[in-house]
Parts: sequence; structure tokens; C-alpha cells
Amino acid sequence: MNIRIDQAKNHVGQEVTLQGWMFNKRGSGKIWFLELRDGSGFIQGIVTGQAGADVMAAAEKLTMESSVIITGMISAHPKQAGVFELQVKDIQIVQLNTDDYPISKKEHGPDFLLDNRHLWLRSHRQWAIQRVRDTVITAVYDYFHENGFIKIDTPILTPNACEGATTLFPVPYFDEGTVFLSQSGQLYLEAAIMSVGRGFDFGPTFRAEKSKTKRHLTEFWMMDAEAAFVEHEENMRIQEEMICFIVKRALERCAEEFKILERDTTPLTRIKTGFPRLNYEDAIQKLQTLGSDIKYGEDLGNDDEGLLTKDSELPVFIHKWPKAIKPFYMKTDPADPRHVLNDDLIGIEGSGELIGGSQREDDYEVLKASIEREGLRGPEYQWYLDLRKYGSVPHSGFGLGLERTVRWLCNLEHIRETIPFPRMINRMRP
Ligand code: 4AD
Ligand code: MG
Repeated sequence: MNIRIDQAKNHVGQEVTLQGWMFNKRGSGKIWFLELRDGSGFIQGIVTGQAGADVMAAAEKLTMESSVIITGMISAHPKQAGVFELQVKDIQIVQLNTDDYPISKKEHGPDFLLDNRHLWLRSHRQWAIQRVRDTVITAVYDYFHENGFIKIDTPILTPNACEGATTLFPVPYFDEGTVFLSQSGQLYLEAAIMSVGRGFDFGPTFRAEKSKTKRHLTEFWMMDAEAAFVEHEENMRIQEEMICFIVKRALERCAEEFKILERDTTPLTRIKTGFPRLNYEDAIQKLQTLGSDIKYGEDLGNDDEGLLTKDSELPVFIHKWPKAIKPFYMKTDPADPRHVLNDDLIGIEGSGELIGGSQREDDYEVLKASIEREGLRGPEYQWYLDLRKYGSVPHSGFGLGLERTVRWLCNLEHIRETIPFPRMINRMRP
């Protein structure tokens, strides 16, 4: 019977067949320990003389990452509970690698590994990271579906800019001239929720970011959420509930992955709702007393984000930022027209900005003036203004960076490991 390694616990004492790759090998002419992987997990296969001379010879010949079909009996590990082994009876080699596998057990530099990303993905840690990523994606879908949101797919080719004209990737488009790769589905989602009430999208977004940091990609996946009749405070509540849901789900389902990644999950177990909220103005004052030279009207730097969260067990909302440094669509704070009703969620453990969100400007004239002030292509926003002309309602939303979230949960130094094939200012291949 063919099984997957993650089903081994249900087949103790039975003869089964596994299909996968030879991940690692130890042993001598008398006994071989084959570490096998099949995508669902890892298992140790034990080959002894009892399997016969041909099987011993095949085990001896097997090289790293050769593909194999292996039959044997599943047994429980004699000492470690919950661990299973395969007492090998037969080895069928699908392809024997004759060249040395490029990625060995020795240390490799990041450039070498990134050049070999197509192979690097097979390694233990990279396998674990992609599984955490999948868990986060699923958690996002589940959270929203349990809370009255439906999935709405927004376009990737767009004639307008959502997040400012400086980070757009131009694409030639037939007779249209230049259009752009989407920076965020938000504007289209705003139109859709006037139909479905609450919606979210989840797809690739693009920023021609010149920044060469450990937190920036040029192609990354964003989840935008948007809801009608939701205002600033409730918007932040939804964000923190969603983060708590994702963290809880990852702790429930990714214990093995976190172990492989040597992730101490204690800080994650402390995450609960009630994230601190700090006005931008108070954040600037606090930073100045902590020794930062940041001034009112400036964006927070990496170090500032670190200072604001260093004593916090919970992510921190910085809200009500100056209108002048935020995009045109954010709603002006009625209590203080210099500021907008927005929030950035700054994560703990140096994870930086995880979410950017806001209440949206719902007044036709105010929004029109903001579009003009930013010098955006007016006609491309007429449909967006229409939403403020026909049944305009207060509404809010936010965007979660998937890779930033995975980087935090896995406690990775660099964001490039969170996505299968990273695109950065200086990397497009493989
Ligand atoms: O803060 P941002 O730019 O917000 C928006 O695009 C809004 N339109 C979202 C919305 O309200 N629907 O981006 C949202 C999140 C950031 O908080 C960050 O987590 C992530 O997307 N992000 C990036 N992740 C990786 N690389 C980059 N270059 C990123 N830029 C933003
Ligand atoms: Mg932002």
C-alpha cells in the first residue's frame, strides 16, 4: 500500500510503500540509516542484511536527493514517542544522482543558496517555512469566512496607483500605453464591498521599492480586507482578532515546523487581544525621549519601530498619522484635520510593520481634492469617486503582508526565505 510519511502513525506493524527522496544517509556495510522525505514529512529507513544483498547494495549506492520508492514495515521508535521508522524490505531507485548534489551539509553563503533556490527549497528549514506560510494563508481564509467576509479577486493590471506613484512597475498594454502592476487591491475591494458588505482579496502585489532591506520584496503577497459600516476603532479590533487567530492556528498546527526552525514559541503563546494603541504624535514624543532624532511629520524607521515595541509583549498600533505622509484615500480625523484615521500595526521581535490600514475618505469633494493634490491621473479615479456618489457609507480596511507575517512567526532574519522564489531589487532568478 502506498502511504505518505505523515500517515505512518496509522500503519504501525504494516508493510507500506513510500515514494520520495533520499535526504541523508549514515551507516556502514552492515547497516544503513536512510533519512527519507516525501513532502509530507521525514522518516528514517533502516536497512540491514535481512533485506538481502541486492537491497543492501542499493542502499550503499543511494546518493543524496536521489528519488526512490521504498517498501518496508512501519515500527514505533524504541525510545522517542510519536516517532516512526521504516524497516526496509525493498528499494527501487527512480533516479540515481550521479553528480554531487550542489547543496551539501556544509555552510553555504546566501548568494549561493539563492542561486540554487530551486534546490534549496528541498531543505529541512525551507520545507518548514513553506508549511508555516500555507498555514497562515489557510488561517486568513478561515478567519474571514467565519466573520462574514467573502473572497473577492481584484485585478493585477491596473491603470491607477493605490500607494503612490513612486513604486509602480509599468507594463506596456496594447493601445493603452502604460498600465501598472497592482500595489494593493484595496481600491477595487472598496467597490466590491458596496455589493457584498465585507470582502478580502489575497494575491501578489508589486512595489518597485528601491529599499534593500530584510523586510522588502518587490513582489509579495498581500491580503486586503474591507468592510462597509466599519469605522476606525472597529477596524483595529478586526486586525488584532485576525492576528490572534493566525498565531493560535500556527501554534496548533506547526509544532514540528517550529521545532525544525528552532523557534522558541513562548512570545507567540503570549499574543492575545488588547494590542496597545499609540497616537502617532505620542509615538514621536516617546521616541524622542528614548533618544531617537525623529521629528513630527517623518515616517518611522526600522530603529524607531524597534524602540516602540521593545518592551511590549503585544504588537502595537500606531494610529492617526499626519495626513501629509499618508495616501490620498485615508479619512481625515474629524477631531483633528491634520491627521487621518489610519493605523500601522508594528509587530514584536523586530518584525516591523505587519499591517497598514485606515478608515476611507467617504466624502466626494474631500476625496476629489486629495486626488488632485497628489497629482494622480484624475480620470482613472472617477469610478472610485462614484462610490462616494451613490450610497456612500463609512468603511474601513487594511492590508496584511504575508511574508512579513511568516518572517515574524518563523523568526527569520530575512524576508527572502518566506517566499518560494523571492524577487528583490537585485534578484530576479531563478
Ligand atoms: O502599508 P501598505 O502599503 O498598505 C496598503 O497597500 C493598503 N492599500 C492596504 C489596505 O489598506 N488594503 O501595505 C500593507 C502591508 C504592509 O503593512 C506590509 O506588511 C506589507 O504589506 N508590505 C510589504 N511586504 C514586503 N515587501 C514590501 N515591499 C512591502 N510593502 C508593504
Ligand atoms: Mg504601510
